[in-house]
Amino acid sequence: MQINKELEDLMNDQLNFELYSGYLYLAMAAWFEDQNLDGMASWMRVQAKEEYEHAMKFWKHVVDRGGRVILKQIDAPKSEWSSPLEAWEDAYEHEKIVTKRIFKIGDLAEKLGDKSAIPFLNWFYDEQIEEEEQTMKVRDLLKKVGDSVNGLYMIDNYLRKRSD
Ligand code: FEO
Repeated sequence: MQINKELEDLMNDQLNFELYSGYLYLAMAAWFEDQNLDGMASWMRVQAKEEYEHAMKFWKHVVDRGGRVILKQIDAPKSEWSSPLEAWEDAYEHEKIVTKRIFKIGDLAEKLGDKSAIPFLNWFYDEQIEEEEQTMKVRDLLKKVGDSVNGLYMIDNYLRKRSD
């Protein structure tokens, strides 16, 4: 079934926002590298790749449904953070925004009774639980260790293990 134009537009916007998410996480990776927190930087680089994959999922859905992908300007992300905690807090807040946006697309898909878009978006609902949980967990661990440099490096080392 040909995709509804309003839904197509929202998915194109989300495609752009997923690319922006990747850009934001790359900016965090660059900042973490500058802070010699290579584990956090590596985690963010992997996350940026994942965001690109999310964008491509929207791309495929739009094209497969007879729509047209329109690429838009990607905003420049923030480049400085006052602490690792602030960066992870931002990442968590960002993921909450992503979730809200996906829900909004889902509301329209349901209103339209679009039986193809609904299961497609269900995948993102599950993914967003994971995305929020991961960033919230690191934020909470950083809050726990407070000013402990040892604690910070233990978290950094733990995050270094992420490969996909
Ligand atoms: Fe694609 Fe992190 O949401």
